[in-house]
Amino acid sequence: MKLMSSEEIRRKFLEFFEKRGHKIIPSASLVPENDVTTLFTGSGMQPLLPYLLGKTHLLGKRLANSQKCFRAEDIEEVGDNRHTTFFEMLGNWSLGDYFKKEQLPWIFEFLTEEIGLNPEKIYVTVFAGDKKNGIPRDEESVKIWKELFKEKGIDAKDIKLLTVKRGGEVGMQGGRIFYYDSSKNWWSRVGVPEKMPAREPGGPDSEIFYEFTNVPHDKKFGEHCHPNCDCGRFFEIGNSVFMEYVKNDKGGFDKLEQKNVDFGGGLERIAAASNDDADIFHIDVFGKMRGALLKAGADLSKKENERRVRIILDHIRASVFLVGDGVLPSNRDQGYMLRRLVRRSIVHAHIMKMPDFWLKALVDSVVDSYRGAYGEIFSKEKEIVAVLSEEHERFNKTLSKGLEEFKKLQRIGAKEAFNLHQTYGFPFELTRELVKESGGDVDEKGFEEAFRKHQEISRAGREKKFGGHGLILDTGELKAANEEELKKVTRLHTATHMLQQALRDVLGPEVKQAGSDITVERTRFDFSFPRKLTPEEIKAVENKVNEKIKENLPMQKVVLPKAEAEKTGALYFFSAKGGSASGGKEKYPDPVNVYFIGKDLKGAWSKEFCGGPHVSRTGEIGKFKIAKEEAVGSGVRRIRGIVEP
Ligand code: ALA
Repeated sequence: MKLMSSEEIRRKFLEFFEKRGHKIIPSASLVPENDVTTLFTGSGMQPLLPYLLGKTHLLGKRLANSQKCFRAEDIEEVGDNRHTTFFEMLGNWSLGDYFKKEQLPWIFEFLTEEIGLNPEKIYVTVFAGDKKNGIPRDEESVKIWKELFKEKGIDAKDIKLLTVKRGGEVGMQGGRIFYYDSSKNWWSRVGVPEKMPAREPGGPDSEIFYEFTNVPHDKKFGEHCHPNCDCGRFFEIGNSVFMEYVKNDKGGFDKLEQKNVDFGGGLERIAAASNDDADIFHIDVFGKMRGALLKAGADLSKKENERRVRIILDHIRASVFLVGDGVLPSNRDQGYMLRRLVRRSIVHAHIMKMPDFWLKALVDSVVDSYRGAYGEIFSKEKEIVAVLSEEHERFNKTLSKGLEEFKKLQRIGAKEAFNLHQTYGFPFELTRELVKESGGDVDEKGFEEAFRKHQEISRAGREKKFGGHGLILDTGELKAANEEELKKVTRLHTATHMLQQALRDVLGPEVKQAGSDITVERTRFDFSFPRKLTPEEIKAVENKVNEKIKENLPMQKVVLPKAEAEKTGALYFFSAKGGSASGGKEKYPDPVNVYFIGKDLKGAWSKEFCGGPHVSRTGEIGKFKIAKEEAVGSGVRRIRGIVEP
């Protein structure tokens, strides 16, 4: 059988829906516009939210596209047969136009006739209903599915309510159509009905699964296999969301004024199903990238390199698209994720002893595969290569320095590995590989233990040093203070948040908190910045803070689940952990407080994860002055600020 290319699948999908009255819309950017609730576009419906809620779309009520998507939450899963961070979502939408009885037959026809999937290998799931929220089970879809399978000569039996756990206990039971609860067959941007905020739309969905009959069930995931089992035998290849509900202010559900369809299907997974090969890393695009890596000298015959290769292929493809949409490596938000993807790939390439040109070879391969569908990465190819190469060079320097130190060491245990990481930013993973090569092993637990201990000691140190003063730590905890002192530190604390934002306004978003402490006399704020500030810049920062004090803006707090809080773009204290850098946010509780300055969270001037306390309005601070600006290390500046009544 000839492998179906990604290009062909994309084209067929768009043509199929165009023939059925849909207008093809371009893919939106991976960086959501006018939406601070999320860092990345992770589904085709996100940019269409206003239209699903009733706004008129200029192109009409039937739309379709292939949307670039990025899901950071899957980063740790990359390496298996089906997870990627970046993917393309084929989507079609009815904005208050057609509904179930058009959508299900169309998508079934597309998959079986256009893509040519064997209907015997297709299984579907439907919504089992939610009594608590008064939402009925979706019997209408079951009826439609039965008809559709019947036309293919398949007697489709429906199986009553399953949860993932129950599915593992009872298995397929000869079924073709499976009812699952809202954890699986309800879709909204934030998940199950309980999690949805007021005015968020959602609805029951019907998912389509492809069974790879040559993949044996893995009992690690349950005694028996079923469509929603995580063993990798079934792939979800499409999801029709019947978006007809909206959460109301009382926590219940109302019907939306219009009934929408929101379909999304992962192109890479559909391609894998069309090849009847349960490994998305075998589809054409990844095949070409792998070829480029091989040409650049990768030893793909080593079994232990397979996971590394998958990580590199996924991460570099994602990075190309992120830079194509204007993201640059940095220490926060989208830039932080990009940096993490690139550095993680570099570490793996380094372990595989790849010559440096592997990166450009991969970028070329990605651009070549997608130049037709996503012109932006083609027109920006030079820039993409330049941005990624620069990050490569920068990180290579870190690695070389660490390597020199590594060579000087006689023996490498957890402590030495930790020191390499702590002092030279040398990734633990690399140390472990190098030690392995000489037949040894580094104790990972010991490394983690050293890491944790170090954090505790540095925290205790800070507390001791300033004991007796009113003191607020990086995490926002308040140390002993009497009433009078408490008031003064509270003013300085809010001023510190304002200082950080003002620095970012004046110097740019590269400014990132590197430490802070506050005594009754002053705030001391350390931040990343490569050079001395000019007197004009210092003045501008000071003025900015005082301007916002004059506006007497409210300082407010919301408590959010940490994942949500991150999506608001709120700043948190960052501590780099080298190559596989993970932020410093682990030390914040979940849920976490987000303090923001302004009328509402969305338009807030300053937002930070923080434990408080703070003034209630900025006017209470008085006047803010920068007393001193100096260097404290390479790339880190320190400002001391005071407040006057
Ligand atoms: N928006 C739906 C999803 O992402 C189609 O699964």
